[in-house]
Amino acid sequence: MKAIVVYDTKFGNTEQVAKGIAKVLNADVIKVTDVEVTKLKEYNVFVVGSPTHAWNMSAGMKQFFKKIEGQSFGEKKAAAFDTKMDSRFAGSAAKKIQSKLKKLGFNITMKPVSFFVTGREGPLADGELEKVKEFSALKVLSNSSVFGV
Ligand SMILES: Cc1cc2nc3c(=O)[nH]c(=O)nc-3n(C[C@H](O)[C@H](O)[C@H](O)COP(=O)(O)O)c2cc1C
Repeated sequence: MKAIVVYDTKFGNTEQVAKGIAKVLNADVIKVTDVEVTKLKEYNVFVVGSPTHAWNMSAGMKQFFKKIEGQSFGEKKAAAFDTKMDSRFAGSAAKKIQSKLKKLGFNITMKPVSFFVTGREGPLADGELEKVKEFSALKVLSNSSVFGV
């Protein structure tokens, strides 16, 4: 398994989460604006996350999806996450990211995960970083020896 965590961030909170997930998955981690599209084919597991901006993903993340539009990611696994306010009016970048990933042919292997911030610039709420452990599910799912593929 070769995994990559692609993230965007404005104030650093989503970056903190991305690095935590990368540790759990033993994955590479890269800011979305630094991604070289041609290198993406090396990876078979993708985790993509963004801060929630105006109920959607960040502009940088939208740009990334425009860049990779039309490429086929069939056979690859993916999961989405976001950071957002803990409010029912907050919206969710992760849901939007997940639907983009689906359209690109990714096999979505877990529900999007939202990490709550306590204010616009953060910090993450107490205990939120613990949720990075949920991403270990991807590790199990992508372990080819378990499924014999
Ligand atoms: C322009 C802008 C729009 C935002 N819109 C939302 C929003 O619609 N819903 C929400 O929950 N948080 C919103 N926020 C708060 C962000 O979710 C918060 O800044 C982010 O989680 C912090 O992540 P970061 O440190 O990685 O930038 C917004 C923040 C900015 C700067």
